[in-house]
Amino acid sequence: MELKKINSIDTYPVRHEVLRKGKPIETCQFKGDDDENTIHFGLYQNERLIGIISIFKEKNDLFSETNQFQIRGMAVLEEFQGKRFGAELVKEAENHCVNLNTDLIWFNARENAVPFYKKLGYTTIGDSFLIPEVGIHFAMYKKIQKS
Ligand SMILES: CC(C)(COP(=O)(O)OP(=O)(O)OC[C@H]1O[C@@H](n2cnc3c(N)ncnc32)[C@H](O)[C@@H]1OP(=O)(O)O)[C@@H](O)C(=O)NCCC(=O)NCCS
Repeated sequence: MELKKINSIDTYPVRHEVLRKGKPIETCQFKGDDDENTIHFGLYQNERLIGIISIFKEKNDLFSETNQFQIRGMAVLEEFQGKRFGAELVKEAENHCVNLNTDLIWFNARENAVPFYKKLGYTTIGDSFLIPEVGIHFAMYKKIQKS
């Protein structure tokens, strides 16, 4: 297993397969993907990309914290799900945000992924909402304690 920083375009095969299946490849490009504060991590097994996560410096007005980061594009190939790879990717993203002195990490979670994030200490806020063509989501967050 190897977890490393990757370019936004490298995430596309897994984004497409897991998050945008059957949709045009252009839908795998997210706004801000190549901003200087955006970072993408990939998890490789035998040089095959099996999981991805992206972190954007993005403030959500639901929260008052100044230094917020948003997780997006969290995905593990289906055959590798349930092996704690997702948890490993979130942990790596959190470490990265902590190093950048973040106060809060947030994201819009697919309804089916909410229990996964709850296990990792995230909390939902507000009612569910529909993201067209993707499905029902909940906003979730975790405040980061400063040591
Ligand atoms: C959601 C996803 C990223 C989780 O990654 P994963 O590698 O399968 O999850 P892990 O094996 O690291 O799971 C960590 C813990 O959460 C639990 N968990 C994972 N997915 C879960 C789910 N859908 N419902 C309930 N529990 C779940 C696991 O059982 C594990 O529990 P444990 O600590 O008691 O063993 C992955 O399943 C995935 O890519 N799903 C499809 C795309 C998606 O929904 N992405 C999220 C978009 S917001």
